[in-house]
Amino acid sequence: MALLEVDSLTKRFGGLVANKDINLCVQAGEMLAIIGPNGAGKSTLFNSLACNHAPTAGSVRFDGRPMRGLRPEDAAVLGLARTFQIPRNFGDMTVLENTMVGALLRHPRLHDARAKAAAVLRQVGLADRVDKRTAELNVAGQKRVELARALATEPKLLLLDEVAGGLNPGEALELVDMLRSIHAMGVTLLIVEHVLEVVMRLAHRVLVLNFGQVIAEGTPEEVVRDKKVIDAYLGSKHRV
Ligand SMILES: Nc1ncnc2c1ncn2[C@@H]1O[C@H](COP(=O)(O)OP(=O)(O)O)[C@@H](O)[C@H]1O
Ligand SMILES: [Mg+2]
Repeated sequence: MALLEVDSLTKRFGGLVANKDINLCVQAGEMLAIIGPNGAGKSTLFNSLACNHAPTAGSVRFDGRPMRGLRPEDAAVLGLARTFQIPRNFGDMTVLENTMVGALLRHPRLHDARAKAAAVLRQVGLADRVDKRTAELNVAGQKRVELARALATEPKLLLLDEVAGGLNPGEALELVDMLRSIHAMGVTLLIVEHVLEVVMRLAHRVLVLNFGQVIAEGTPEEVVRDKKVIDAYLGSKHRV
């Protein structure tokens, strides 16, 4: 049984079809990347998977369970966590407190949640900033705080929406190592990513969206050579 099964998923906003008839299976232990131009419907798909909104048609099953009618907090309890393209942290709270919000899901005693949060913050390289007010961090730092909060919920599946956006090349490589260590702990990763180097280094499989539809699927090497993908997204500068 796949960890995540998406069957004929469609999402409309009025007359706009943001996702059309998407089929997708993610096996436990996979690292799958979704790429595609701005407006292709990548974040909309994440919103359906994580129960931030209900799809117009089609179904999502996570760990064998239909997700229809559930709320994001229900998805988190089941083991599905996500980050947002634009981080949604509690800006006035410290980095540790933000991470504790996630840790409290499985560690209701404050003392245990604090210990869990501190361990996650070491893993994501924020151990030296635990007491900082989160709003004072730069974008890369804020993204890590959100990643830490999601990880602290101890997910089976983690959805990351453009977690490398705005990072310099050194920071992006550091992120690749961090995501590898998260994956090595047994977390299945589904990432939406524009930074192609991160995709090429991490993904086992890549799905390409364009105008809400899947136009290609394969290994990173296969999709970057695919003419449809080059025409829709990569352009000639990435031609290999
Ligand atoms: N809540 C919404 N209401 C109306 N239109 C939306 C909403 N969210 C996304 N869209 C539209 O759906 C399309 C896909 O958006 P999005 O999923 O954010 O794309 P991507 O993440 O691939 O850049 C875009 O045309 C966008 O304007
Ligand atoms: Mg997006």
